Amino acid sequence: MTSSVSRTASVQDATQTATQTAETKAFDLKDYLKQQQALVEAALDRSITTVYPEKIYESMRYSLMAGGKRLRPILCLATCELSGGSLEMAMPTACALEMIHTMSLIHDDLPAMDNDDYRRGKLTNHKVYGDDVAILAGDGLLAYAFEYVATQTQQVPPERLLRVVAKLGRAVGAAGLVGGQVVDLACEGQPDVSLETLNFIHRHKTGALLEASVLCGAILAGANEADQLRLARYAQLIGLAFQIVDDVLDITATQEELGKTAGKDLQAQKVTYPSLWGVEESRRQANQLIAEAKAELAPFGQLAQPLMAIADYITARKH
Ligand code: IPE
Ligand code: IPE
Ligand code: MG
Ligand code: MG
Ligand code: MG
Repeated sequence: MTSSVSRTASVQDATQTATQTAETKAFDLKDYLKQQQALVEAALDRSITTVYPEKIYESMRYSLMAGGKRLRPILCLATCELSGGSLEMAMPTACALEMIHTMSLIHDDLPAMDNDDYRRGKLTNHKVYGDDVAILAGDGLLAYAFEYVATQTQQVPPERLLRVVAKLGRAVGAAGLVGGQVVDLACEGQPDVSLETLNFIHRHKTGALLEASVLCGAILAGANEADQLRLARYAQLIGLAFQIVDDVLDITATQEELGKTAGKDLQAQKVTYPSLWGVEESRRQANQLIAEAKAELAPFGQLAQPLMAIADYITARKH
């Protein structure tokens, strides 16, 4: 994959790049993530109240409030701010993205899929509530995500909101996450899966929702078409890198670090980048994708510091 940004090697560009590198270093990602995570945690906590029938709300909250990096909401908030919007405009969509993501994790962990016992450092939803309630908790989160965006978003023109709803639907459906999961499952144990198919899996099961996270923030803020295209390319590149790193960590990290069982991909004979290329080459590819993603952000200058730093975090993370 190559970056579509072509830059002229002028002195001005070189100076600008050097300044941007220094600024990116000065940006305290740890502090930023902590602060944004706290905002997202509080908003998520407010988003679902436990009423009758309590069991389903408890099950939905059990997984939604179990921690996690909150990467998708943070990306949405960061892109909305980068595009001139406010945190308030994007928070309901940010919460919806995390609800959709949590649904995908609950369902991904079911015995009929990856059959995992641990997630986010806790027993998986179905281990606590049973398969039946876990399926319904996923359904409940998915439906509520759309209700939440539609009813809670403020200060956003309705036509932008409509585009956000459509984008979310496409990202999670058969044209996105669901399609990727289907091919992921179909390829389990298959000996000759092509790189093309592996890319399809990654771009859909993981990339689609990450791309939607970035683009929804931009759409809510009213970003122009050119910026949306640039941000979409950034998101596609970090999305692919994100799943490659997830697959590498499945091999190299411990259960304590991951909060989920390690070594599952090999055991389930999943087709992954490391299974195809080995760990070192996969890391190199992920780093390359991140460098390309960051290059897409150059025209935004200093405003893109959070997105630059988040891109670096994707390859540097340990869980
Ligand atoms: C895990 O996602 C599933 C993948 C798409 C690889 P995350 O690594 O973002 O999980 P949490 O939200 O931090 O638990
Ligand atoms: C996750 O892929 C993709 C989705 C949940 C949509 P994985 O199956 O690799 O995720 P983990 O490793 O269980 O988090
Ligand atoms: Mg899976
Ligand atoms: Mg899994
Ligand atoms: Mg995985």
